Amino acid sequence: MLAHSADECAPAAELHGLSQAEAFLDAIFENIPHMIFVKDAERLAFSRFNRAGEELLGMPRSALLGKTDHDFWPPDQVEQFVQKDRETLAGGKLVEIDEEPIQTARGLRWLRTKKIPLLDAAGVPRFLLGISEDITEKKQIYEELLRTREELEQRVIERTAQLSRLNEELSQEVTERKHAEEALRKSEDQLRHAHKMEAVGLLAGGVAHDFNNLLTVITGYVATLLSDGGTSPAMRDDLTQVSRAAEQAATLTRQLLAFSRRQVLNPEVLDLNLIITDLGKMLRRLIGEDIHLQVRLSARPALIKADPGQIEQVILNLVVNARDAVEGGGQITVESSHVEVSEPGRGGSRANVMLSVRDTGQGMDEETRARIFEPFFTTKERGRGTGLGLATVYGIVQQSGGTISVSSELGFGSTFKVYLPVTREELRLEPPLAESAVPVGCLISVLLVEDEEMVRSVARRLLERHSMRVVEAENPQQALAIFRARPDDFDVVVSDVVMPGMSGPAMVDELLLLKPGLKVLYMSGYTNNALVHQAVTERGFVFLQKPFVPSELVRKVQELAAAAAALSSGSGPRS
Ligand SMILES: Nc1ncnc2c1ncn2[C@@H]1O[C@H](COP(=O)(O)OP(=O)(O)OP(=O)(O)O)[C@@H](O)[C@H]1O
Ligand SMILES: [Mg+2]
Repeated sequence: MLAHSADECAPAAELHGLSQAEAFLDAIFENIPHMIFVKDAERLAFSRFNRAGEELLGMPRSALLGKTDHDFWPPDQVEQFVQKDRETLAGGKLVEIDEEPIQTARGLRWLRTKKIPLLDAAGVPRFLLGISEDITEKKQIYEELLRTREELEQRVIERTAQLSRLNEELSQEVTERKHAEEALRKSEDQLRHAHKMEAVGLLAGGVAHDFNNLLTVITGYVATLLSDGGTSPAMRDDLTQVSRAAEQAATLTRQLLAFSRRQVLNPEVLDLNLIITDLGKMLRRLIGEDIHLQVRLSARPALIKADPGQIEQVILNLVVNARDAVEGGGQITVESSHVEVSEPGRGGSRANVMLSVRDTGQGMDEETRARIFEPFFTTKERGRGTGLGLATVYGIVQQSGGTISVSSELGFGSTFKVYLPVTREELRLEPPLAESAVPVGCLISVLLVEDEEMVRSVARRLLERHSMRVVEAENPQQALAIFRARPDDFDVVVSDVVMPGMSGPAMVDELLLLKPGLKVLYMSGYTNNALVHQAVTERGFVFLQKPFVPSELVRKVQELAAAAAALSSGSGPRS
């Protein structure tokens, strides 16, 4: 028997008790703050409804009782309600619906509903009890929370990505910065090195200049004494020793000049491969038998414009150093090749010939490597090295418009690379030198211009001893005055290059105006490369490097005089 359907047929005695119980139950039913409804199992029509249900749906229960879902809600929704109702009744147990929407007079609401079958004594479902909680607000809050969480998560993802991007940029910046600092440090080192070499070069050049003048005087007087019939044999021996020492000193100053880039070069177009080939035999002899020499030449001719004697010196010095480094067996490789060297400043690249000399010797540590091009830097024992080899190489390469680099590690050998610009000019075969005959019985007359008194007098003595007439001028102005008065008196002018007040070449320009075809011999121990190059090499004058071998001076003046005589006999008799 079901409690709520009992009121109609309850006996009076029980009625009071029942109605009290029913009133109590009613009060509970009415006051529960969730919608409670009862449907009959047959039609699913509403048979009871509480106050919370009225408030939720916005309808009085009078409008609901006896009606079914069909009377209030759209068919597809009704179908879902009915399906759950039937499921509950058929299953005979509680069914929970977590959330379901329902259209009410107050708008769309969300419910969490529990449906419970009410069975009779025989266990047959008679009614369906429904309890629905209005979860609309809760759901909104929950959804809001979800959205916020998603947003937060999204933001975290974005920030993380941003941070890792920034981190990457930062680490890239740090790397770039490190590279830049490294490059800066390197270029500062190079600059410092270049300045140091420049300063040492100036000093070396200055010393060489003064020494050359002194050596010219020494060798000049020694030569004079040696050719003097009155000199005794004992003195002759002593003088020969002096002469030898002077010759050695002259070799030293020549190397210093090479380093300070102040020697006179006679650049010509040459094939580096031919030079290496020609030197080959000598190199092999030089390095001995227990060292293997390998020569690898570029397939194409390696054309450069340089002084062949100087380039030979470069190769020799590098190979001798390599030999000293591989003492006791090893390999030396001399190689030529064509390489493009990029020129950052000019935004392009330059075609170069590269000469490389590699050895499998002892190598160098950082400290040694930093100083090898300094003059007089040597690690060799006394008497074995002067430390001028690489200084000379450095000067020659620089003066020839090239660069030199070295890579080496202690115990792992060394490689020297010399880069020289490829020339576009063509290789020329030298025309054979014209035979020059000294006119016999003809007095040669020389104008000698030299500001160094000692050099001037030794040169005069040397020339006079060979029956020449010498007029001295101690500076260009004086020379001009003498020459102007009697231009036809002189066959040859012998002049220093650098003199106070006016340079030798500037003076010669004026002399040439007075006497075109005048023969000139320059002599100098200290030469400004550009000046000499322009005034001497390019114009075909003859140059004598101080300190000179006395006989060389005489021979050259004689040759010039012969050429002058040939010229004037070709253009008419001399007055
Ligand atoms: N191929 C090489 N391997 C190892 N060390 C070298 C090599 N070339 C040069 N050096 C080092 O550089 C120093 C200077 O060389 P450099 O040619 O200027 O002078 P040197 O050979 O000592 O003397 P010099 O050449 O005047 O007889 C050498 O003493 C040596 O320490
Ligand atoms: Mg050397």
